[in-house]
Amino acid sequence: MLSEYDDTLINQTEGFHVEEVRMIDIPYLQHILKQLYGGKSPWSYTIFLLELSRKDSGSYLKVVYQGEVVGFIGLRLEGEAAHVTNIAILPNYQNRGIGSMLLEKAKQYARVHNKNYVTLEVKASNESAIRLYHRFGFITKGIKRDYYRENHEDAVDMSLYLGADTNEEI
Ligand SMILES: CC(C)(COP(=O)(O)OP(=O)(O)OC[C@H]1O[C@@H](n2cnc3c(N)ncnc32)[C@H](O)[C@@H]1OP(=O)(O)O)[C@@H](O)C(=O)NCCC(=O)NCCS
Repeated sequence: MLSEYDDTLINQTEGFHVEEVRMIDIPYLQHILKQLYGGKSPWSYTIFLLELSRKDSGSYLKVVYQGEVVGFIGLRLEGEAAHVTNIAILPNYQNRGIGSMLLEKAKQYARVHNKNYVTLEVKASNESAIRLYHRFGFITKGIKRDYYRENHEDAVDMSLYLGADTNEEI
């Protein structure tokens, strides 16, 4: 997990603590997804359990504010990339820079693992998230047709190249 190789990835910024997700956090992560997706979490308890079990090939980070889990990011090592499996911030805590903070963590995580890219898929209709990713430097690699099972929506396949400084010390 993160703390085993780089304590600098865990920090505290203006009352928001970034910590590793533990199994007991799963209901809190599902609560966040329910708030965002009409009362139903797209990820079951079992999916989270499986994801959190893959400690060697991924990492999940939560953002805690005054004891409440207000957001999280999931990362998985895939080929040349650290892939964002999920990123979600409670509605009341959006637009304060927390998502950007977690994307910075994703970049750091990729660099620590000598990966050249951060990748993700996002719903084609999710304009605000796509705008944020573009601002971050992600480019669109392509469209994955009919990617989301629940509504048959297309996904935008995005990639952030980390450049020549991938192996730098952070
Ligand atoms: C997408 C998501 C993770 C972004 O998280 P966030 O915490 O709102 O992200 P940020 O606050 O860093 O950035 C969002 C916007 O707020 C702005 N912002 C950042 N800090 C700010 C601040 N202190 N004050 C005002 N605005 C700020 C950013 O510039 C950005 O603006 P933009 O929309 O014009 O690009 C969040 O909206 C979310 O959980 N959405 C629902 C789930 C989802 O869509 N996940 C993505 C799946 S791929």
